Amino acid sequence: MSGSAITPWVVGNWKMNPMQAEAQALVSGFKKLLQKNEIKQEDCYLAVAPTLLALAEVQAQLADSVRAVYSVAQDVSAIAGTGAYTGEVSAELLVDHRIECVLIGHSERREIFAETPAMLNEKVKHALNAGLTVIYCVGESLAQRDNGQAEQVVLQQICDIAAVVTAQQWQKVVVAYEPIWAIGTGKTASPADAQAMHAKIRQGLTQITPFGPSMAILYGGSVKAENAVELAACPDINGALVGGASLTAESFYEIAQAFANTK
Ligand code: PGA
Repeated sequence: MSGSAITPWVVGNWKMNPMQAEAQALVSGFKKLLQKNEIKQEDCYLAVAPTLLALAEVQAQLADSVRAVYSVAQDVSAIAGTGAYTGEVSAELLVDHRIECVLIGHSERREIFAETPAMLNEKVKHALNAGLTVIYCVGESLAQRDNGQAEQVVLQQICDIAAVVTAQQWQKVVVAYEPIWAIGTGKTASPADAQAMHAKIRQGLTQITPFGPSMAILYGGSVKAENAVELAACPDINGALVGGASLTAESFYEIAQAFANTK
């Protein structure tokens, strides 16, 4: 037990998965595991980010869980409020549906959907103004890492949002470091490499906000039950954003346990 003062977060990012029946089975399996062997609230925040279509149903299914498991939106509109914006869901609509948290800046959104820093800033601004907690994802590509630019790229992504996050709002920001080359590839950054980047992120955040030392910085990229204990032992890794391994109740539970045990 390292006794870290920062409560870790373990967040399942389901991406465009799974089908409805599997989602229901996944949630009920996870609830059963929590019931059998509870992970205390104060030891770890738990959250899942289903598809937008499943968000309300998953939230309802989690309502009678033995402990809080938050439902997270995978995305939010860059436009605030309500109006004629076909296909969009604003931060205010999420809050109206009692969603408390949203992922912004995932590399799949940045790369596949060409989301620019300017767009992401709009999303971050509206999400925070509406009262959501933002899990802001950053990470470098393999080419950027090979060229020695990893740190610069990641710190720039953090600096980008500093333009829109107010002094108090930093308390509602969680950073997720996800090296793009480790996402869904089975390649995890070594705990030493991940810790080194997390320490740099912490340094950068601390220069921007007095909340920097107490902010949760999550690692993402092929986190699984097998590597969670080692990652959780790193002082600046305060949780995980888990893709593939969050689609199995047992592995997601084991990852949560690994991080809860660091408290
Ligand atoms: P992965 O995805 O765990 O499947 O690598 C992580 C993520 O993209 O959030």
